[in-house]
Amino acid sequence: MTARFHIRTYGCQMNVHDSEKLANLLHHAGLRAADSEAQAELLLINTCSIREKAEHRLYSDLGALRSWKAGAEGRVLGVGGCVAEQQGASLLRRFPHLDFAFGTHNLRLVPSMVSAARQGVRQAQTGESHSLERFDLPQRHPAFESRTPGRAFLTVMEGCDMFCSFCIVPLTRGREISRPAASILSEARQLAARGVVELTLLGQTVNAFGRHDLRRGRAGAAGALKSFGALLGELARIPGIERLRYTSPHPLFFDEALLRAHAELPELCPHVHLPLQSGSDRILEKMRRRYSAREFIGIARRLRAARPDLALTTDLIVGFPGETRADFEDTLAVVREVGFVDAYAFKYSPRPGTKAATMDGAVPPDEAQQRLEALQALQRGLTLDAHRSRVGTETVVLVEGPSARPRATASDDAGASAPRQLRGRDPYHRIVNFEAGAGCVRPGALLPLRLVEATPHSLIGASLDSAGAPT
Ligand code: SAH
Ligand code: SF4
Ligand code: F3S
Repeated sequence: MTARFHIRTYGCQMNVHDSEKLANLLHHAGLRAADSEAQAELLLINTCSIREKAEHRLYSDLGALRSWKAGAEGRVLGVGGCVAEQQGASLLRRFPHLDFAFGTHNLRLVPSMVSAARQGVRQAQTGESHSLERFDLPQRHPAFESRTPGRAFLTVMEGCDMFCSFCIVPLTRGREISRPAASILSEARQLAARGVVELTLLGQTVNAFGRHDLRRGRAGAAGALKSFGALLGELARIPGIERLRYTSPHPLFFDEALLRAHAELPELCPHVHLPLQSGSDRILEKMRRRYSAREFIGIARRLRAARPDLALTTDLIVGFPGETRADFEDTLAVVREVGFVDAYAFKYSPRPGTKAATMDGAVPPDEAQQRLEALQALQRGLTLDAHRSRVGTETVVLVEGPSARPRATASDDAGASAPRQLRGRDPYHRIVNFEAGAGCVRPGALLPLRLVEATPHSLIGASLDSAGAPT
């Protein structure tokens, strides 16, 4: 019987995509996806260590998985991702039921580690690879199913050389390395040929793509040297690719070519996730973000000059060591001035091995909590305003599938005949919920809708023929 696997994924989109790469590798090794963990013989946990809570989740998961491992003969348990990269062999010592640990550069070793585990070999493989070989992964296996047809992630660079003082990522993902442009373009063409219409380019500092190679005048194995803006231009020309996105950019790497791409490429979605972190220059400096609040606002302005309808979202940290009430108010002021459509706000969490973990001036937890809530309240208002300003306009969504939570309305009776709610994403990356109606709407399709209502977290759309009639 074919062995079945399941992968639990925590963390960012790079991790989600690494899990896809793992699933594909396992398919090529003859395994198949299980419907549930209970039916799996192989369970992989792809971990995140960005904040302490994320790391602790692994330890509680591993504790709870003792019974999973004991539940059937021959079950294999492996841990990968950012916690595994740092902890490696110590995880094996601490959790005797764990079979193997693999680092963020060692995905390709997993099928052989599974075979070894079946022979009773326990091991940790966490070495950093500086070789471009790590981008050589097999093509999509026919049995590999993506979560949303029509949409795919595409790695363009890996690692991070920025060393922001709070951040563990440079320690878990290693040095910055760009994938050869020829290999990116060839994967993009293959994806388009399989019906993918939307590509999200991935990298820890995605718009730093190519900068080291361009500076050194070295093409690597890539052939021609390319800036990120030029790469976007080439991807946009691939027949079938209708939408391009990228995440996460660093504010430092918005050069003329990238701004021009936003002005000139209709395929490039009018949304940029632009992490601000703090609005205080004093804190930005301690964070080693390498821009001032004014410079950040300047980048936002130039992006909007290139693409006037651009939606900006951001990441923010409250309670960084030494953050005063006045620093925090500076953050509120910049958030208001830029007018983000959405923001992910986090309480600072000290990470071992980072510069900030040694800094004095810890903000008391209740004060940090209060700042978090004040920031979230401000953002909720901005998000709702942004949603409301779009009611009455038309948009096009890429259909994802059923809505996370079907909307309950006053007129719902027991829900037996409630219409099917679907969700999609518009070009600004907002979620739009809509009723499927009688027509057949398949996930992955691009569907025009009229926006009829705004909610705090999403928009509600209606099909163009039904939306015109006033009620
Ligand atoms: N590469 C991205 C960020 C990846 S981490 C970038 O440069 O913007 C995602 C977000 O987690 C960060 O933007 C930051 O807001 C938050 N984060 C990272 N380290 C953190 C820490 N130690 N405590 C709290 N939040 C943190
Ligand atoms: Fe972390 Fe800074 Fe690198 Fe982003 S740019 S991954 S925040 S070190
Ligand atoms: Fe987490 Fe690693 Fe991503 S720490 S946020 S999974 S790069």
